[in-house]
Amino acid sequence: MQDAVSFIKDKIGNFSPEIGIILGSGLGSLADDYCEEAVPYSEIPGFKASTVAGHKGRLVFSQICGKNVVMMQGRFHYYEGHSMDTVVYPVKVMKRLGVKTLIITNAAGGVNTDFKPADLMLITDHINFMGANPLIGQNDDSLGVRFPDMSEVYSKELIALAEVCAGRLGIELKKGVYMALTGPSYETPAEVKMARTLGADAVGMSTVPEAIVGHYCSMNILGISCICNQAAGVSTVGLTHSDVIIAADLAKQKFITLVLAILKSIK
Ligand code: HPA
Repeated sequence: MQDAVSFIKDKIGNFSPEIGIILGSGLGSLADDYCEEAVPYSEIPGFKASTVAGHKGRLVFSQICGKNVVMMQGRFHYYEGHSMDTVVYPVKVMKRLGVKTLIITNAAGGVNTDFKPADLMLITDHINFMGANPLIGQNDDSLGVRFPDMSEVYSKELIALAEVCAGRLGIELKKGVYMALTGPSYETPAEVKMARTLGADAVGMSTVPEAIVGHYCSMNILGISCICNQAAGVSTVGLTHSDVIIAADLAKQKFITLVLAILKSIK
């Protein structure tokens, strides 16, 4: 970890990121538009290579709307076969770089029947249905406590701020509970019914590990899902990764406009 942090600090000099953004499917272009310094994951000690199409695999540093930002262009998913440690390692590195606020974005399936493709959903809470927890193992007391409270993972202040920004921009936002499953298979209709019964509004394959660790190490967390499709059984048609990418692309401009407004407004 110390090697990773020293390596990155060598690259970015006195640039000190205060906000981290994990860019989900379709949002990666934010890091192409704002890129002052980019560090490929393959060069950073302890980072693994990203294997998913549409996920580039680098840390991108830039000042955006007056804020010093580090973006993950591409993330590590549990379904790629990475350990939970690998999935959340970048969050711990961001913490060590001084990041205080973490914006986590993703593509998700809509479980709530009011949701339609290209809707944006603020995550109010999550259900960890991955069957694993990224904090299992020896605790690093310098990051957080052994049994961290999870009663407010997603900052109410940041949710309120995002709603104000969206209101000003005329962007409609949904709010709801995100359930993470491992993937990579999409859910069956029965699983989606279960997710709804358990209180989920959206399902996906990421975000929860990073949110748990970010909150554990005292970051303020904002989670935003791009609802790319109606989850299995809600929709009568089958689901492909390219459908998800197309919907993410449709929502991209709105998503980026919102994230920029949020960056500007964060104190
Ligand atoms: N399920 C799980 N993950 C997803 C989905 C889905 O329907 N859409 C985009 N990511």
